[in-house]
Amino acid sequence: MRLQRLLDTSPIAVRPEDLAKPIDWAALFEAERPVELEIGSGKGTFLAQEAAARPEVSFFGVEYMGKYAAYMADRLRRGGLLNCRTTSMDATVLVRDHVPSQSLQAVHVYFPDPWPKKRHHKRRLVSAAFLPELERIVAPGGQLRIVTDHPEYAEWVAEVLERATLERIDYQPPASAREGEMVGTNFERKYTVRDGREFHPFALRRPL
Ligand SMILES: C[S@@+](CC[C@H](N)C(=O)[O-])C[C@H]1O[C@@H](n2cnc3c(N)ncnc32)[C@H](O)[C@@H]1O
Repeated sequence: MRLQRLLDTSPIAVRPEDLAKPIDWAALFEAERPVELEIGSGKGTFLAQEAAARPEVSFFGVEYMGKYAAYMADRLRRGGLLNCRTTSMDATVLVRDHVPSQSLQAVHVYFPDPWPKKRHHKRRLVSAAFLPELERIVAPGGQLRIVTDHPEYAEWVAEVLERATLERIDYQPPASAREGEMVGTNFERKYTVRDGREFHPFALRRPL
């Protein structure tokens, strides 16, 4: 039996077919709080840390690999982090079909898959085509935050962001990052320890 079916992940994990179009964040979280979205949450390290550090915020994580999404939801549920919800689907579909305009205090994209082969560039999450959607969902005063370790993808992101309508600001690590960390995700910890990679951060803000 697949891992997802063995775990009791309610009320954290929400099935894509149960997500409203558009999502009513207050109804989904059963609370009126600012909402932050993490795209490509992996095993949920960032969400687990941030949701514990900032209980006054609602966190939504989207991860399309089912086994990671199940692990993440179970981890958040075991941690009692009821200010989190997650789903397992393609983030581009989630954003396009479900996320209301200017509804998010932050959109976090940490270590998106770089798809280094040229013929795969069209799969890159940060793209000229998807940037307007990423910008659309950021609330006034809110941020779009991207970090990559891949030098060529970093150049690509910088080029894509030249078209951004939000203002570029300095990137600040999140509240839960440890000393010297850019974000503090699984991916960052694994590769910093293993081969000391350089990370490239980007942050944009919608003016108030
Ligand atoms: C390199 S991993 C980084 C995971 C995590 N952010 C971290 O830093 O540990 C990228 C993750 O994004 C997920 N992902 C990539 N494209 C996605 C998409 N379009 N929608 C949802 N998840 C996506 C992948 O399945 C993978 O788990």
